Amino acid sequence: MKKIRWGILGCGRIARKFASDLRLVADAELVAVGARELSTAESFAKEFPAKHVHGSYDALVSNPEVDVIYVATPHGLHHQHVLLCLQHKKAVLCEKAFALNFRQAHEMIELAKRQKVFLMEAFWTRLLPHYVKAKQLIEAGKVGRIKYFYGEFGFKPTAPVPARLYEPALGGGALLDIGVYPVFMALDLLGKPDSIDAVMTPAHTGVDEQCTVRFQYNDGAIANLFCSLATNLASGGDIGGTEGRIRFTHRMHGPTTLLEYYSGTVDTCQTIEFEKAKGFGYEYEISHVNECLQNNYTESPILTHEFTLLLMQTLDVIRAKAGIHYPAD
Ligand SMILES: NC(=O)c1ccc[n+]([C@@H]2O[C@H](COP(=O)([O-])OP(=O)(O)OC[C@H]3O[C@@H](n4cnc5c(N)ncnc54)[C@H](OP(=O)(O)O)[C@@H]3O)[C@@H](O)[C@H]2O)c1
Repeated sequence: MKKIRWGILGCGRIARKFASDLRLVADAELVAVGARELSTAESFAKEFPAKHVHGSYDALVSNPEVDVIYVATPHGLHHQHVLLCLQHKKAVLCEKAFALNFRQAHEMIELAKRQKVFLMEAFWTRLLPHYVKAKQLIEAGKVGRIKYFYGEFGFKPTAPVPARLYEPALGGGALLDIGVYPVFMALDLLGKPDSIDAVMTPAHTGVDEQCTVRFQYNDGAIANLFCSLATNLASGGDIGGTEGRIRFTHRMHGPTTLLEYYSGTVDTCQTIEFEKAKGFGYEYEISHVNECLQNNYTESPILTHEFTLLLMQTLDVIRAKAGIHYPAD
């Protein structure tokens, strides 16, 4: 199997975790890193060695030795940076939130299609073992018809607080940063809602410090979703069905060693245990992208373009209902 040659665009916080997990994937190789300043890329490459160290994103996307680029900049810049990669015919794994709005996401996906180049949203949760297991239980009919989903994600940023978290131009606020996880799960489990309600409490810059969302479905299902940059929560989730229940006890978005499955009443809890992830949990999405590229796919069969567009469209509706606005709108 040939090695898939990765480049990283933006040498910030998540890029470090990603680069660390890249080392766990046998057919992946970090060949290039690019930052706005050469010194930033150089200090990144001291921690995570790469053959090419670029002091601009233009230089990175022009490097002929790079097969795929991981876009790790704040979400307000994903549109610009993904288009840049695609224009240079580079495959892309783009961090979540994929873009600021549906319009941007649509442009990004359309360009990938025109260029016949792979593009995927980095929704790592979908590929984590505990979530894959939950999906298998649901598909096997173990919870019956899903009537309820509850999902939350809350954390209180500690100093130094990244400016991007509250900056409207960069897509700041709880919803696009972390609320996107429970929204993703509700859509993945229940599909497109028939109605959406949302309210938020603003942070000092006007973006949402907290946001709560309700999805309703014509078949009677309901999802309650919550995100917060003001408080540390378990960040768990609960899937309630007519025949059973699945509970994500904590950090449902990230790797976990535990899943609770109830086949009936509250007394029927079975604990399903998973091996501890070797890295931060990004190795699963990296392996999946590599597999797609080894097979010359231009789209993931699991994290499809259609799903990313549904997610962005839903986030737009939530923001309109809650009153979360960005200059890019
Ligand atoms: N999947 C996950 O678990 C996860 C976790 C955290 C974050 N994320 C996502 O990853 C993305 C980056 O988050 P992060 O926490 O890594 O962000 P960060 O450290 O604040 O910034 C990432 C990088 O973006 C680049 N950048 C380019 N233009 C910028 C500008 N005008 N202002 C600020 N930064 C700029 C900088 O790279 P250079 O200066 O090096 O070029 C910076 O290091 C976000 O979309 C976030 O939602 C995902």
